[in-house]
Amino acid sequence: MTTLDAPQRTLTWVAVCPLDVLATERGAAALVPDGPALVQVAVFRLVDGRVLAVQQHDPFSDAHVLSRGIVGSRDVDGVEVPTVASPMYKQVFDLRTGVCLDVAGKQPVPGASADLRTWPVRVVDGTVEIGTVPTGVDAHGAGSMRAGVPGDGEVRP
Ligand code: FES
Repeated sequence: MTTLDAPQRTLTWVAVCPLDVLATERGAAALVPDGPALVQVAVFRLVDGRVLAVQQHDPFSDAHVLSRGIVGSRDVDGVEVPTVASPMYKQVFDLRTGVCLDVAGKQPVPGASADLRTWPVRVVDGTVEIGTVPTGVDAHGAGSMRAGVPGDGEVRP
């Protein structure tokens, strides 16, 4: 399991759905708190049982569509990593870290990072939970997640 450093101890775990309703290798969109706002998250259950979450917003098309992306895998430095490809322009992202692995010849829209934000995910008693920054926490807390701490995808049946 990922070791949580100080900023992440302030995470609030939000239940989003039963694990059973997530079809493997198909994304689902969830709305979770992000400080005082709400943000759309794309949640993916992999064939190996991991559950990972990245932003729903596609930085290249500016549309909230990544849960409709195509799940796959790619060799990154000799490691097979799970990926999602945007359904819009086919950019490929590492689902663990959010890093854009293939910009497909395009630039992100102005102000957007090519890389995706990620959220920690855990499964407790068959329920998928996403680690969020609670209301009132300084937005810099969200920045620490933006740095790319992937969900460990640990499943506790
Ligand atoms: S909600 Fe943003 S593109 Fe539809």
